[in-house]
Amino acid sequence: MVTNSPAARHRILPSDQDASGRRLGAEEIAAVTAALRSGVLTSTKGTFVRRLESGFAQMLGVKHAYACASGTAAIHCALAALDPEPGDEIVTSPITDMGALAPILYQGAIPVFADVDPLTCNITAATIAERIGPRTKAIIVTHLFGNPCDLHEIVSLAKKHGVALIEDCAQAFLASYDGSFVGTIGRIGCFSLQQGKHITTGEGGIVVTNDDALARRIYLFINKAWGYGEPHPDHYFLAPNYRMSELCGSVGAAQLAKLPTAVARRRMLAELLDAKLRGIEGLMPPVVAGRAVHSYWKYAVRLTEPLDVDAVFDVAKLLRDRGIICAPRYIQKPAFMCDVFQDRKTFGTSGYPFTLARPQALDYRLEAYPGVRDGLERLLVVPWNDCYDEADVEYIADSLIDAVWQVQERLAS
Ligand SMILES: Cc1ncc(COP(=O)(O)O)c(C=O)c1O
Repeated sequence: MVTNSPAARHRILPSDQDASGRRLGAEEIAAVTAALRSGVLTSTKGTFVRRLESGFAQMLGVKHAYACASGTAAIHCALAALDPEPGDEIVTSPITDMGALAPILYQGAIPVFADVDPLTCNITAATIAERIGPRTKAIIVTHLFGNPCDLHEIVSLAKKHGVALIEDCAQAFLASYDGSFVGTIGRIGCFSLQQGKHITTGEGGIVVTNDDALARRIYLFINKAWGYGEPHPDHYFLAPNYRMSELCGSVGAAQLAKLPTAVARRRMLAELLDAKLRGIEGLMPPVVAGRAVHSYWKYAVRLTEPLDVDAVFDVAKLLRDRGIICAPRYIQKPAFMCDVFQDRKTFGTSGYPFTLARPQALDYRLEAYPGVRDGLERLLVVPWNDCYDEADVEYIADSLIDAVWQVQERLAS
């Protein structure tokens, strides 16, 4: 749609924050109505959450899938399944959502940050290797924006050190590496169904694994560790209620059927934008690892020379003026710059679990992460959506190229 306002002539793009950019239609309405009519809204008795779980497991070709309350809960389940000792270390990325980090602290473990490749903002085997130590229990990789980490050497590294690999695929539904879907390559994969993801239940998450013993712990962790259906059930260990309700499960099962088409469209549209941006001075389209296939939760561009690092804000402003609500520098600052890490704001005044950490594990200084600084400084995250059409992509391309030229001209004058 194109509007003519006195201030600006701009196109209104579909947004994942409302109906314009969400595929929530007759199928979801029918499913949620059926759930309501059944009168069974808890997954312990209903069938919809189970339908979502089995459908997702089948789509990914994985043995077990469990739905839960959020992507944050999914990461928490993965960690709890591994059952770290307090003070054990989890090597992970500082360019991620806090929902991928808070569960580490809740589980009494220490997030140890690895630097990123500035071109992808993903952690790499080399940066992870620098941070592995005697207390490392697991590695969590985030496939940022749907762009898979270069997993081949990361998997070898995890095996060499005998540590578990968790894949955070909150942003990476149906992305793949070496012919396998991400989430199925490490020991556990975690997904988010929050409002703005490829498919949504408003809030929600899914955990997948091929490992029977881990699957059992994941299931129990979602369910207060209560042995439902067992002859002598008990609360086997400390665990919350992270269940997804049948209302969300019904919507999720309907959304799942739309996922392959949504991802295919996101890819096709991203290829169009890649082609338009290739060769434009000052702009670098997403860099994808050789064996990886991106699933474009967002379209993240890097602003390059001759643009300086502040140009990312100027370009973002020009795009926003044209209705393209992009995010310069994504999360603005790496996670370890947030109060929870800088001031150890966790449980009362205890500073727990940081109090258990090896001093080397707690390096929360920006200068120790040159890739993070460089990667974020030049990153511009463009909203992406399978409800876009070709004209939307053309509008984004023209706006981006025009903004970069304007800023270059301003810098030159
Ligand atoms: C990479 C990543 N991990 C974890 C999460 C947490 O998911 P949720 O918001 O569903 O708790 C998100 C959410 O945005 C995310 O992007």
